Formats: sequence, structure tokens, C-alpha cells
Amino acid sequence: ANSPLRFDGKVVLITGAGNGLGKAYALDFAARGASVVVNDLGGDFKGVGSGSRAADKVVEEIKAKGGIAVANYDSVEFGDKVVQTALDNFGKIDIIVNNAGILRDKSFLRISDEDWDIIQRVHLRGSFLICRAAWPHMRKQHYGRIIMVTSSSGIYGNFGQANYSAAKLGAVGLSNTLALEGIKYNIHCNAIAPVAGSRMTATIMGKELIDALKPEFVSPIVVYLSHESCNETGSLFQVGAGYFGKLRWQRSEGIVLREDGKVLEAETVRDNWHRITDFSKATYPTAKDSTNFMTHILKDMDQAHKLPQEDAKITDPV
Ligand code: NAI
Repeated sequence: ANSPLRFDGKVVLITGAGNGLGKAYALDFAARGASVVVNDLGGDFKGVGSGSRAADKVVEEIKAKGGIAVANYDSVEFGDKVVQTALDNFGKIDIIVNNAGILRDKSFLRISDEDWDIIQRVHLRGSFLICRAAWPHMRKQHYGRIIMVTSSSGIYGNFGQANYSAAKLGAVGLSNTLALEGIKYNIHCNAIAPVAGSRMTATIMGKELIDALKPEFVSPIVVYLSHESCNETGSLFQVGAGYFGKLRWQRSEGIVLREDGKVLEAETVRDNWHRITDFSKATYPTAKDSTNFMTHILKDMDQAHKLPQEDAKITDPV
């Protein structure tokens, strides 16, 4: 248990690894023996421009320390090209950190179509395209570790970040289902919501706070979740400044307001609002028991047990 977490022979793709958090992950994995694909489009934090310098500098730093790394300059919007760089240089893909990201912060009414679309394209669609390109390779080799990067803005909401919040919570949804679909192939997927001082947060954090929130304080959980010895999957963590915590859904006990032969009206909901929203006997549902609140109606039907397993209908050729 006290052996170091090594990644010799493992191929790690980190998107947006030219700066900030992604750079810290890349250096950490490389120091632990991994072959690292340093992807970065090289634009500014709003997603304008491109260039090879950001990725190249990190690759140089890794190599100078005796590590193995190769650069890729494609946008994650071209996920198959990014993954192809891993395949071309190292022959496989084992670990993905979907870290690339930009901001287009605006109060809700000021969000343009472009501000909305580019955030979804980079954060959510980019993560989808990267994962889809890598998925068949991970399945075939019966090993894969994927980290989705979400944000407290996605989990809780944040003023001025409607576009970003939507994309970031979307990444958690993607993570949850990839965890379910991946488990039988030893592909694990988890989401982290980091906090770190970076050029992205320089706009909202003071210098002192940025220095206290080094990206290196986030990297340890990314590395651990990516290791073959780690069994965690389908989970969500908040991380930053040396803090690590896990989140889960909570559901109130709730109440069945349906009575045979009676019409159910809004007034009944209103009159029972305190029971619907009372968390004193809360439970923590997971995918397995996500619809078990319907047992009162399903208990007499023999298909009741089939409900949470709709994926059983999907016949997926290997
Ligand atoms: P950063 O701006 O320092 O790094 C992001 C990197 O992604 C940049 O190097 C950028 O060039 C690259 N990138 C942007 N669009 C790309 C694209 N289409 N394809 C490839 N690369 C692209 O930002 P930071 O703070 O390191 O953020 C990393 C991730 O963590 C982001 O997903 C961000 O949303 C998330 N995050 C960061 C928080 C923080 O406190 N810094 C808080 C919550 C989430």
C-alpha cells in the first residue's frame, strides 16, 4: 500500500495541458513514468487564437527532467486527431484528463449564441469527442481511466456563468454514464471540481489567493483516480488548496400523494410541500436505486425490477 503510484508504460492524454491545472497534471504524470500527450490549442482564456508555444514549453520541461512527452496542438473539438497523436506516438491510450477549457462570462441576457456554443463545444462536446475516440481502444485493452473536469459553477451555479455552468454539469452527466458503461471493461470515470489559481481565475481572484491555490494541490487526486489500483468510478469530488471531498446526491424521503380513484391536483402538492422537501429522513440514491421511489406503484407489476435497467435493451457489438 505504501508503494509509489507509478505510470511506467502508461499513456496519458491531458487536454489543455499548456497552462494552469493541465500543466501541473502533465508534469506529475511524467515524473511518475507516464508517456504524456500534452494537448493545447494555445489560444487565450476566452478561446481566441491558437499556437504551439504553450504545449511545446510543457513538453520541453518534461523532457528536460528526463520524462516522455509529445505535443498536440489541435482543439479538443477535433477529439479524434488529439487521440490519434497518442496512438501514433505511443501505440495506445490509457488515461484521459478532459481539462481543456475557456470562459465567456456574461450575465445571462448578454450571452450571445457564440458565447453559448463555444463553451459547449470546448468543454462538453470536446470531452465527448475525446472519450469517444479513445473508448474502443480502452475497451479492447480492458483498461482506461477518465477524469472529467467540472466546476463548482456547474454543481451549484454561479452568477455570470450560465453557459459554463450548463457545460460543466453536462460533463458530470457524461461522466456518470461513462462510469456505468465502462465498468465491465475496467474503464473508470470520475469528475473533479477543482479550484486553483490560473490565468482563468486571475480575472476573479487576487494575487495572494492565486498563490495560495497552486494547481499542484489538485494534481494528487487526478493521479490517484487514474491509477490502475484505484477502484473509484462514477464519483464527484471537490478539490483545491489541499482539500479533498466527495459529493453525492441526497433525496428527501418524499411522500406518495396518489390515492386510488382520486385526481391528483396542485393543491395537494402545495399542502404537502413540507413533506416533499423534508430532508430529515433523506437517502442517497445511486444509479441502481434511482427510480426506487416508484415501488409503491410497481410492486404488483412483474416488470418492476426492469425499470432501472433500460440499457439492457442496447445490443452493443464488441
Ligand atoms: P487555463 O486557462 O490556465 O488552462 C486551460 C488550457 O486549456 C489553456 O492552456 C488553453 O490554451 C487550453 N484550451 C482552451 N481551449 C482549448 C481547446 N479547444 N483545445 C485544446 N486546448 C484548449 O485554465 P485552468 O484554470 O487551468 O483550467 C483548467 C480546467 O479546470 C478547465 O476545464 C476549467 O474550466 C477547470 N476549472 C478551473 C478552475 C480554477 O479554479 N482554475 C475552477 C473550476 C474548473
